[in-house]
Amino acid sequence: MNFAGRRVLITGASSGIGRALADAVANRGGVLCLAARDSFRLLRAAEEVAARHPDQPRPLAWPCDVTDRPAVGRLVAECRDHLGGVDVLFNNAGNCVYGPLERTGADDISAVLAVNFLGAVNCVLEVLPVMRQQGAGHIVNIGSVAALHGVPYLAAYSASKAALAAMAQSLRAEIHGSGITVATAYVDYTATNIFTAEKKVGGAVRPHGPYAPAAKVAAAVIRAVERGKQDFAITTRGRALGLVRVLTPGIVERYMNRLADELRAEEE
Ligand SMILES: NC(=O)c1ccc[n+]([C@@H]2O[C@H](COP(=O)([O-])OP(=O)(O)OC[C@H]3O[C@@H](n4cnc5c(N)ncnc54)[C@H](OP(=O)(O)O)[C@@H]3O)[C@@H](O)[C@H]2O)c1
Repeated sequence: MNFAGRRVLITGASSGIGRALADAVANRGGVLCLAARDSFRLLRAAEEVAARHPDQPRPLAWPCDVTDRPAVGRLVAECRDHLGGVDVLFNNAGNCVYGPLERTGADDISAVLAVNFLGAVNCVLEVLPVMRQQGAGHIVNIGSVAALHGVPYLAAYSASKAALAAMAQSLRAEIHGSGITVATAYVDYTATNIFTAEKKVGGAVRPHGPYAPAAKVAAAVIRAVERGKQDFAITTRGRALGLVRVLTPGIVERYMNRLADELRAEEE
């Protein structure tokens, strides 16, 4: 898989990992369509990518809320009309709510599932007919290590990312042989705006880092996609978690219990 000349649609491209993916794709000669809700921040991101890569076609910037299926349909139509199709979809738009499940409102839980899972499903359903017509395409989900084992204070987020990963595996089997691939990156803590944008329930306090730079995470995701990886963690910690939870699940349980105790103590 080579990004040169590929038409790449990235959701949540105005900030953080999505913004860094846009730069990494432009570096490799990909043709970009960037989407997010806030048009001002989105246009600024597109301008910055264009300024950094004057030799590349200007990225298309199309404001879109991924929870709005008709709006996602218009986004994909825009890619088809202006770029001629979509070769790669990065399902990256995401949000989070942080705090104990018992004190998290149903609306906040729904809002996380609506973007991280159903929003990604909307994008997949709109892009698939285009990719099927092309006879080729790549769907890449920006998942999380929290999908490997539910993390305390991140119940809704962990569930949304586990749902995303499972959806990708089901879809991969359903469309095998179609020329369309489906991948999920199990991303670890990354320094982005998600931690300031998220709602913190009560006095919940996030543990301190370490947080990887978004550019480093994006570069690792792109390299894995180029190598044709399907379900992949990009950090040693993520890979270790994947292994340990299968081989000795008790260790992971004990680690999560200790983390929950620490988070509760931090609040009190
Ligand atoms: N940061 C981490 O530690 C980490 C770890 C694992 C996985 N991830 C995943 O990485 C992805 C990117 O997150 P990030 O950390 O880079 O956070 P971020 O900096 O807050 O970026 C989130 C992006 O998603 C967009 N967005 C949010 N809701 C949207 C919606 N309904 N429709 C369209 N776009 C929407 C935001 O723009 P607007 O608000 O303008 O729409 C923004 O561009 C997420 O899926 C996140 O779960 C992050």
